Amino acid sequence: MLIDCRRNALGYRTAFALRASRIARAIRLVERRSGGGLRAALRAALCTVVLGAALQANAADMTAISAPCQGCHGEQGHSVIANIPSLAGQPEFFIMNQLFLMREGVRRVEPMKALVAGLSDDDLQALAKYFSSVPPKPSDEVIDPELAKRGAALANRARCASCHLPSLAGQEQMPRLAGQRIDYLRHALTDLRDSQRPGADSNMIAAIGAASDADIDALAHYAASVFAATH
Ligand code: HEC
Ligand code: HEC
Repeated sequence: MLIDCRRNALGYRTAFALRASRIARAIRLVERRSGGGLRAALRAALCTVVLGAALQANAADMTAISAPCQGCHGEQGHSVIANIPSLAGQPEFFIMNQLFLMREGVRRVEPMKALVAGLSDDDLQALAKYFSSVPPKPSDEVIDPELAKRGAALANRARCASCHLPSLAGQEQMPRLAGQRIDYLRHALTDLRDSQRPGADSNMIAAIGAASDADIDALAHYAASVFAATH
């Protein structure tokens, strides 16, 4: 996965540092053992091997590790509970970034606090990889077509697609909105507008800054109505 460190300073810096520190540790270890002086190409190959090995080791523990998550976020991350987001099909980096922000106490999600505190960097990475790989499904809530139409016009004016993509499937640190639960979208947009999500992307806060509650409702119905699988 390519990481562009220029965007979303906080999110990218934290997640990138997390990844880079693990790789740096592994490289230092091998350099010590081999008497130092590894060439650049060898370093690059090593990074790939180290990351690959970590992910494979974690895949085996996935069922145990993701079971408590599925208790709230639904089977394979397809939420059926009000105000709890679906995780299936979210971009890998978005999930990892949010979990990292939660574990470090920046984004505060009380019901998850104790759970994320005990997770290692490798656990976060494995969970992100797992939930991002599950094909997303649309929410089963009733979508109001009139609201969705009004939301589409608002989204067009606010250029939501420039970050979340025209399919609203999300990318990098920007979440999937397509198919997400309407109640959660409404809740998340209200929190973002009212600066109630510490550590959130400032461009996102600016994008929703002027929206009324009625606008947010329309945007939520629109976003939930757009569904395009990325996997
Ligand atoms: C007790 C219920 C509960 C459990 C268990 C739980 N979560 Fe959550 N999670 C939530 C709630 C509620 C939110 C929404 C927080 C908010 O309102 O901003 C959330 C949000 C998230 C988000 C942010 C998603 C987004 O779209 O903003 C991620 C990622 C996440 N959880 C991953 C996990 C993972 C991985 C696990 C297992 C290690 C887990 N959760 C376990 C309740 C839970
Ligand atoms: C400049 C890029 C950008 C634009 C424009 C933008 N967003 Fe976002 N959006 C983001 C990022 C980044 C996040 C992740 C927030 C965080 O850091 O917690 C986000 C988060 C969200 C969330 C929270 C979803 C979740 O799962 O937690 C919703 C809902 C959302 N955006 C909807 C919108 C809508 C609707 C618009 C247009 C009115 C919009 N966004 C415009 C970048 C953007």
